[in-house]
Amino acid sequence: MQQMKLLQSLYQQRALGYRYFDDIKSVPFENSDISDMPSTLPDLQTYLSDCSLCNLSKSRKHIVFGEGNPQADIMFVGEGPGELEDNSGRPFIGRSGELLTRIIENVLMLRREDVYIANIVKCRPSANRAPTEEEADKCKPFLIKQIEIVKPKIIIALGATSYSYLTGDMNAKISRVRGEMINFGTSKLMPTFHPSYLLRNPSAKREVMSDMLKVKAIL
Ligand code: URA
Repeated sequence: MQQMKLLQSLYQQRALGYRYFDDIKSVPFENSDISDMPSTLPDLQTYLSDCSLCNLSKSRKHIVFGEGNPQADIMFVGEGPGELEDNSGRPFIGRSGELLTRIIENVLMLRREDVYIANIVKCRPSANRAPTEEEADKCKPFLIKQIEIVKPKIIIALGATSYSYLTGDMNAKISRVRGEMINFGTSKLMPTFHPSYLLRNPSAKREVMSDMLKVKAIL
């Protein structure tokens, strides 16, 4: 709440003509001020329901909070909602969502409702662009709180944008980092290709399959 108020006041000051000397930098995982946010997913969703911390709030139809098992062992983190997700309020329901569901069912041998699915940003960036650093910084504390509540054993970062904003490694190449599990707080993090990349490059499914088998092996 405190952080939300601070950000709102910074926004108002900017609207009045004040300028920052520096960009607001990524909120680091350890220092995110999330302790005064609600500690259940439904309460956190309500808390966020009229969020206007960044410009994405102006054009969104729905906040895409995330969905799935609140005690999932696996949490997928994508980039941000597309048009279908914005229309419905649910993550990954288009073609990339169908592919993600197939990976969950056919490789991890789980049901979609057994895992938790969220995104770096909860509102749709226009024209399916990647979220900016500022948008991701505003939204990240809510994702970190979701991770704290769900406590997944493994977070699967879908694509470079998700990996970079989660870890702060902004120059990472997904083709280089994918497949290597790293520690992420009390969870592990496995970077892999984003399903939309797989739709364009079906031959990369082989690598994703190998990444998912590593995930399955430590469940
Ligand atoms: N792509 C994403 O990264 N997230 C969604 O929810 C849908 C498409």
